[in-house]
Amino acid sequence: MAMRVPLVAGNWKLNKTATEAYKLVADLMPGLRNIQGVEKLLCPPFTALMAVSRLIKDTDIRLGAQNMYWEEKGAYTGEISPSMLAEFCQYIILGHSERRAYFGETNEQVNRKVRAALAHHLTPVICVGETLEENEAGRAAGVVSRQVREALLGADLLAGSDPVVIAYEPVWAIGTGRAATADGVNTLIRNVIRPTIAGMFGDDLAQRVRVLYGGSVNSGNAKEFFAQPEIDGALVGGASLDARTFIGICEAAQG
Ligand code: 13P
Repeated sequence: MAMRVPLVAGNWKLNKTATEAYKLVADLMPGLRNIQGVEKLLCPPFTALMAVSRLIKDTDIRLGAQNMYWEEKGAYTGEISPSMLAEFCQYIILGHSERRAYFGETNEQVNRKVRAALAHHLTPVICVGETLEENEAGRAAGVVSRQVREALLGADLLAGSDPVVIAYEPVWAIGTGRAATADGVNTLIRNVIRPTIAGMFGDDLAQRVRVLYGGSVNSGNAKEFFAQPEIDGALVGGASLDARTFIGICEAAQG
């Protein structure tokens, strides 16, 4: 059995100025310090990365960004490159459903970002998940399998020890208060996500990749998800903006 260290990540989305981020991290640090055996990851907006990285410098809290461009440099006004982020971050969220829905990100673009992140030793947290319509049409497995496969095409995963994280976030569960069932998520990871990775990179790697659940996770329901053998942590949106709640979710992952 592969040993996968639980990962609890806070995706702050479009929230918190650098000043507000500083306050939230100051409130988080005392509680997070006591949590062992769980990797804790904060993903603030770009503008708060420097402030947060200074605050958490001597802790085991990890830092990630929420998006990036695949080009290294050049005339791409408004974009941020992998090496710019690699100065601060260990992780990068890619292909979030909000980026797919509002900014038109395609599987092909997500794939270019994944490969660029890996080349700069940033660990991608690749978000996949079906819409409500796809779910109701019985297409969840096909959509998720395709998202995973197309994100990972040509990726050099066999070199690193912890090359990618997958976050399964059904779109209908995000920000709705209507979380998926823990059992349903476990089944989808076991029957769809790990076999897709295994088909591309072998079973050993498929067993090592951490797969998170995201979508209306809170301190009340987190334990139920973490009790599932295939769920290796959570990607938390709204509930990551409150220090006590996020600490509670990290505590629930301690087992
Ligand atoms: P919520 O936790 O607010 O539902 O958001 C989940 C999410 O999109 C995390 O990336």
